[in-house]
Amino acid sequence: MTSDSSLIPIVMKKLSTDEIRQTFLDFFKQKGHAILPSASLIPENDPTVLFTTAGMHPLVPYLLGQPHPMGKRLASVQKCVRTGDIEEVGDNRHLTFFEMLGNWSLGDYFKQDAISWSAELLTKPEWFDIDPHRLYASVFQGDEDAPRDEESIAFWQAQFEVRGISAEVGAPEADEPATGDAGPRIYAYPKKQNWWGPAGQTGPCGPDTEIYFDTGKPHDPAFGPKCHPACDCGRFIEIWNNVFMQYDKREDGKFAVLAQQNVDTGMGLERMACVMQGVPTVFDTDAYRKLFEVFSRVFGVDYGKDANTDRSLRIVLDHLKTATFIIGDPRGVAPSNIGQGYIVRRLIRRAVRESKRLGVTVPITATVAQAVIDGCGEAYPELVQNAQRILDEMAKEEAKFAATLERGLKEFDKMMAEGGTVNGEQAFVLYSTYGFPIELTEELVRERGGQVDRGVFEAEFKKHQELSRTASAGTFKGGLADNSEEVTRLHTATHLLHQALRTVLGDHVAQKGSNITAERLRFDFVHSEKMTPEQIAAVEELVNRAISKDLPMGFEEMTVPEAKDAGAIGLFEDKYGAKVKVYTVTDPDEQRGFYSKEICGGPHVTHTGELGRFKIQKEEAVSAGVRRIKAVLSH
Ligand code: ALA
Repeated sequence: MTSDSSLIPIVMKKLSTDEIRQTFLDFFKQKGHAILPSASLIPENDPTVLFTTAGMHPLVPYLLGQPHPMGKRLASVQKCVRTGDIEEVGDNRHLTFFEMLGNWSLGDYFKQDAISWSAELLTKPEWFDIDPHRLYASVFQGDEDAPRDEESIAFWQAQFEVRGISAEVGAPEADEPATGDAGPRIYAYPKKQNWWGPAGQTGPCGPDTEIYFDTGKPHDPAFGPKCHPACDCGRFIEIWNNVFMQYDKREDGKFAVLAQQNVDTGMGLERMACVMQGVPTVFDTDAYRKLFEVFSRVFGVDYGKDANTDRSLRIVLDHLKTATFIIGDPRGVAPSNIGQGYIVRRLIRRAVRESKRLGVTVPITATVAQAVIDGCGEAYPELVQNAQRILDEMAKEEAKFAATLERGLKEFDKMMAEGGTVNGEQAFVLYSTYGFPIELTEELVRERGGQVDRGVFEAEFKKHQELSRTASAGTFKGGLADNSEEVTRLHTATHLLHQALRTVLGDHVAQKGSNITAERLRFDFVHSEKMTPEQIAAVEELVNRAISKDLPMGFEEMTVPEAKDAGAIGLFEDKYGAKVKVYTVTDPDEQRGFYSKEICGGPHVTHTGELGRFKIQKEEAVSAGVRRIKAVLSH
């Protein structure tokens, strides 16, 4: 056996990121695969995730057996966003946006062809031309659900053998990996490492085989006694995953053999570029180098000179690249406080804040977005088509944030100086007054060795959600929105009440606050006198009449000026992005054609008849010129 230092020096074909993408697709086309365009980053039929996270994601219905119109052999380059990693970006491996090269067999070829084609594409001189001595494979070791993947082991051994290499199976941390023509080259791991499928759920899944590239770096013993392909020390880079979907995980936890056996593979383009270009990190590949160059030219900050600067630069470029792709997607999403829009907002704001750290005082987002469009526009023409929208949304969000950032940071420093940390309530003030995403505050506090109480922040958020109109299910991991049916009904009742108060008391009535529990609604509004019993009865009567007419309720999205023109009431500050939801209770008996129209994030019932009977329990003063009503619904 030879030693590390005798590894054949890396003489690699130096392929650009664009060339790797094309080579992959050409290879699978030649193997009879139909080439699919990248699907949208915004999943079409999957409300459980915000973004497309793998090449297989848009193909799930076909992996489950639905025939695909393009056939049984498919390949694609899929744009992916994984936002679990936002706070980790800055190190030199995590990306929030990446491209996944993949090939699929829908009940067609299986392990033998998949492994043989993987080996062919990676090692043949006309394709990637990687020295097979640099390649290692991992396989599933077997457990009570499924046996050790002997087939994959045998197919890999055959592939190595024809390349003059005798591949043994090694045990992680016990057996030193082979470095010459013999020795351990295939390692078996448990499910955690070599199994892919819906975690903890039911559905198609199976063992996978992962292909690793040996960089030849010495092992770092801090990561374990002996190196092995899945060791995290940095010597091995995982470049390709072949999943063999041969089981269906059932409700009872058992694994049944699937009638249709699929292959689902994923190769990270950026990592592959890193390997092919012989550079230490994904940020040193051609695609990212170009972005750093633009940044350096326009803003005078260079990559590769100082560790802190590099960290900030990586955050700026990674985040704005991701935001460019999300806004520029055919189903593009603008920055907002809900769902995908909230992620875009966080990405842009974190990037802008890092640019300030770099000492850049001028706007950066449009410049970086344009550089991303220039670099990726050929592979993703939607970026060119939507360039104007991307640049506008970026600039708008940047301006909004920049306006309050400085004041917010001052406030933050003051809070830190006074209390030694920022508590949940203060984090909410930073959020609501200075537009600091909670994650940004958390990061700032963490950097100073503290921690924000997320629970307190979320409670505060919930308390204010009616006021700030920003609530949406799933915005935060904790799930802030309370969508229980009763709360929804009371929420709709609040709109009816608001309008009834205006009808009875006059148009000076405006909402000052609102709070809803599952039991009652509470509504604060501008009005200077105590309401008379007659006025209270008239308001109740108006609300109950609207309920008994069972009026339809729905929403439209529009800009704030459009909402105003349409006669909507509600908070008018154009604070949270381009479009707002306007909820309307339609009533043909009314002159305006509606009973109520109000800017609001929802949710609401679809028909007022669902509300039951409305009753005001209390009317009182809260402060000078502001009254409070508590009311209930009975069914
Ligand atoms: N779906 C597999 C992955 O994402 C290929 O790794």
